[in-house]
Amino acid sequence: MEYQAKTLFADHGVPVTLGRVVRTPEEARAAAAELGVPVVVKAQVKTGGRGKAGGVKLAANPDEAADRARDILGLDIKGHTVRQLLVAPAAEIAEEYYFSFLVDRANRAYLCIASTEGGVEIEEVARTKPEAVHKIPIDPIDGVDEAKAREIVATAGFPAEVADDAVAAILRLWEVFTAEDATLVEVNPLVKRGDGRIEALDGKVTLDDNAAFRHPEHAAFEDKEAADPLEQRAKEKDLNYVKLQGEVGVIGNGAGLVMSTLDVVAYAGEEFPGPDGRGVRPANFLDIGGGASAEVMADGLEIVLSDPDVKAVFVNVFGGITACDAVANGIVAAFRLLEERGEAVSKPLVVRLDGNNAELGRRILTEAKLAGVELVDTMDGAARRAAELAASATAGN
Ligand SMILES: Nc1ncnc2c1ncn2[C@@H]1O[C@H](COP(=O)(O)OP(=O)(O)OP(=O)(O)O)[C@@H](O)[C@H]1O
Ligand SMILES: [Mg+2]
Repeated sequence: MEYQAKTLFADHGVPVTLGRVVRTPEEARAAAAELGVPVVVKAQVKTGGRGKAGGVKLAANPDEAADRARDILGLDIKGHTVRQLLVAPAAEIAEEYYFSFLVDRANRAYLCIASTEGGVEIEEVARTKPEAVHKIPIDPIDGVDEAKAREIVATAGFPAEVADDAVAAILRLWEVFTAEDATLVEVNPLVKRGDGRIEALDGKVTLDDNAAFRHPEHAAFEDKEAADPLEQRAKEKDLNYVKLQGEVGVIGNGAGLVMSTLDVVAYAGEEFPGPDGRGVRPANFLDIGGGASAEVMADGLEIVLSDPDVKAVFVNVFGGITACDAVANGIVAAFRLLEERGEAVSKPLVVRLDGNNAELGRRILTEAKLAGVELVDTMDGAARRAAELAASATAGN
């Protein structure tokens, strides 16, 4: 969120005005009175285009701040409900620039995008006047030093009177980008204020999850209220889970296998359209990873089965380093574990085991005689069976 990005900016010396984060019109009124008017009241949601959606408003006095807060709280901006607002002193704006650093995967480099025509219309500018949006490649080894920052300022065409200030801000933003392990640092608008100084009036930072272990403090930025409760629980258990809209729970080992399982289930599910004409679809993505222990399998099953939308589960495992017998033992142990936890499995489970020690794995499952578990040898066949079971369970409800 903007206020979080600005906190990071402030930590690294990027010029910002922090303001106050509030949750009610009353708090907005108090913040405006404390900060001094005029203020801006800004929706705090993790998406752009807030201004255009009516989520950024000026208020000339504390009462107006309360009114604007009332207007903005609860707004839905691109699927994000506004629960928090930033109340900040209104800046006197002379010019609005656009500035960002991002990872340019295609070119295996970083990229700076900068324009003197920033503001809420930047997407429109990029479409209709691409020559006004400058892209400056950054060598990942060299990074951004003062000379590079000067090159950026010159290429972007920032006016001479802000050049020194802009160079300083750019060096600070580069520090945010690298020190915080970000994949995006965007400032739109970066403004030239009435007094000629540069300030970041908005901020958007995408942090690289893979570097989270280096930044325990980043955990505070997570929006727990907006997170799906199942995704939240999965995250606490270190599972790679994404909730989807269908009925077939999917568990697999390896992200690639799970991705293709989603496709196969969606395809097989077309054969079983519901009353609304749409087929059965996958209910989630869940990758339990390479070395799936019984514990991990139990955690995964527990999360997938606790989703009320799930009518049947497809466990798709390709044994590699972790052989199928280990996975089969994991499933058996997971059933016991869940039973002990008082959450005995009551939904049908279709299991497909292939690869290393598949025969042995299948035998273990057959001999365990777990209620509701069916073995199907092929991925397509198993997907079809899981879709069929989900369709009949749905029809039965
Ligand atoms: N503190 C401020 N003082 C005065 N005007 C402001 C302030 N903050 C924002 N604005 C104005 O509101 C506009 C929109 O605000 P902001 O850029 O923060 O939100 P946004 O619309 O979500 O941004 P984006 O389109 O980049 O996603 C800015 O371009 C600026 O003109
Ligand atoms: Mg903006």
